[in-house]
Amino acid sequence: MPSSPSLPAWFLGPRAENADLLEKLILEALRDHVFWRRNFHPEDGFTIRETDKRSEGYERAVAKMTQELMGLLAELKQGVPFFSGRYKGHMSFEQTLASQIGYFAAMLYNPNNVALEGSPVTTRLELEAAAGLQQMIGYDVATSWGHLTSGGTVANFEALWIARNIAYLPLAAAGAAQELGVKLDVTLPDGSRAPLHELPLWKLVNITNGAALDLWHALFETAPRADVQKALSEHSLATVGYQDYARRLSKAYGDALPAGVVLVAATAHYSWEKIVRALGIGSNQLIYVPVDTHFRMDPAALWRQVSAFSARKTPVMACISVCGTTEESAVDRLDAVLDVRARAERELGVTFHVHSDACYGGYAASVLWKGDGSRRSAAEVRTSLLGLDWPGEDWVRGVEALGRADSVTIDPHKLGYIPYPAGAFLLKDRRARELVSTDPPYLSQVREGEATEERFLGRYIFEGSKPGAAAASVWLSHKVLPLDERGYGHLVERTVLGARRLHGALGAASMGEFRAVMLPEPDINIVCWVMHHPRLRTLAAVNGLNEGIYQRMSLSRAGAQPEYIITRTRFQTPMYDGAVDPILEALGVCSAAEWKAAGADGLVVLRSTVMDPFLVSPPPAPDHVTGFIGALRRAADAALASGTP
Ligand SMILES: Cc1ncc(COP(=O)(O)O)c(C=O)c1O
Repeated sequence: MPSSPSLPAWFLGPRAENADLLEKLILEALRDHVFWRRNFHPEDGFTIRETDKRSEGYERAVAKMTQELMGLLAELKQGVPFFSGRYKGHMSFEQTLASQIGYFAAMLYNPNNVALEGSPVTTRLELEAAAGLQQMIGYDVATSWGHLTSGGTVANFEALWIARNIAYLPLAAAGAAQELGVKLDVTLPDGSRAPLHELPLWKLVNITNGAALDLWHALFETAPRADVQKALSEHSLATVGYQDYARRLSKAYGDALPAGVVLVAATAHYSWEKIVRALGIGSNQLIYVPVDTHFRMDPAALWRQVSAFSARKTPVMACISVCGTTEESAVDRLDAVLDVRARAERELGVTFHVHSDACYGGYAASVLWKGDGSRRSAAEVRTSLLGLDWPGEDWVRGVEALGRADSVTIDPHKLGYIPYPAGAFLLKDRRARELVSTDPPYLSQVREGEATEERFLGRYIFEGSKPGAAAASVWLSHKVLPLDERGYGHLVERTVLGARRLHGALGAASMGEFRAVMLPEPDINIVCWVMHHPRLRTLAAVNGLNEGIYQRMSLSRAGAQPEYIITRTRFQTPMYDGAVDPILEALGVCSAAEWKAAGADGLVVLRSTVMDPFLVSPPPAPDHVTGFIGALRRAADAALASGTP
């Protein structure tokens, strides 16, 4: 695959090859900012005078600052060399030059994107950047909504916060309608209509998002807005809180339902555990859906779980599918997950919010767009990748299905190559954001009919003050690298190519008696494997070898200067039950039952995220695949010899 001639201009470069360019652009941004200050009410005169700069106190302060900066710069060099082809660890690489410049330029203005008052420009940039992501995943920008967050955890939190509130919205609407003395019909999951006041509890918690939001709007048509708002609030979970809510339900319906559950792919990021705890849902209610041997959610297992919960009349608040798992970059077949929901609505009369955690993999959707705004087929992408058998048709169907998920989270600070902090929360039906809205008295009051998100983002989001600089950073990077095959799509393709090259080379490498037991080729660009040696006869010994390699190829030891940097994870029961079987079989040191008995020790798996678009560069660029394999062999030798296993 020929690399785009623009690629060398997108990053500072592993040896800071574009240092001149970065310096020039930073200076440009700084000078422009200085110009702005100098021309803002020039009649004000000067506060800091040239004579002040000649005082002893001034010079002492400058000397102190310079000295301390030198200290900081020295300390920072103990940081992680994400920019280097030798870094093959977590989902981090250097950031695009555009994002660095955008961040720096806006940081000088220090905008606060909580409200337009503190960020007249960057709030708009934030919404535009999010709209780009909405478009990339196939949402209709006119009816969807999106904004930036500090990262994936907060974005995922917002998704479940909204999903939970929509799930219980029809209950609040039923209570409010009764209080207001109004009668309304609502659409059931099978498409039929029914009077709201006649619905039993179980049916009320199984109304689709669209129907619940229609109902909510219909309610506002029946009485003055303030009255409806008050009645809804009095019956909403957000106001009442879980404890009282359950008591009220038992009183009103003679029965409180079992606690609602959240289904997540077994590969889900640990943030979901935090989120269900924080929202008061409880981690007992976080249910893992098994994944297949490619680490993708198993739709048949999902159907079995949904049916079982339906039989027990347990509400399913949401199903969390993953696009780009943290450990393996696996892409769930979201289309199949959505099919399961459609079947559940048809056959069982139950429904749930479908969220895609695309925090890592979301940017891969850019591969499927041409520069003219039309779609690229799987075959077209494969042709551009010179016959690589990626992506498959089912991958494309899964990624295109993002446009049908109720909400999606995507982190620009991961595969968007943008500085921290930058996540994004995208919502298919923008009306739903009202379900988490809060108005503070001291920020701009929102009047009905106003473009409120423009004026006051803080109303709809979990965070308060937030960096407008991050928004400028994402915005500028999307301008320079479009979210299609010419920009981000090209970057992602290069990393897939790199990951596949590394995967193939590792699997075929001759490393003496060592053998790399490869996990399947990744859906995007995270390569996982387990090192093995004939001398090792137990799972503990294999884990010991791999832990020993990781110690030697990571920055975990003080003063360590590894040749190459990788990371590792542990596949544990019950999350990886079944999925891990082919790896255990290839290792041949223990049965699945013995692995399960190992509990938290699990199976240590070595992991390399290939975000480096230069990995497949031809000479004279360094060959970091061959170099990596050599370093791995040396680390394995040392680990075995030291008796770590
Ligand atoms: C799939 C997935 N979701 C969510 C997160 C959480 O993102 P953050 O660390 O930005 O909060 C991660 C982080 O690695 C992730 O991989």
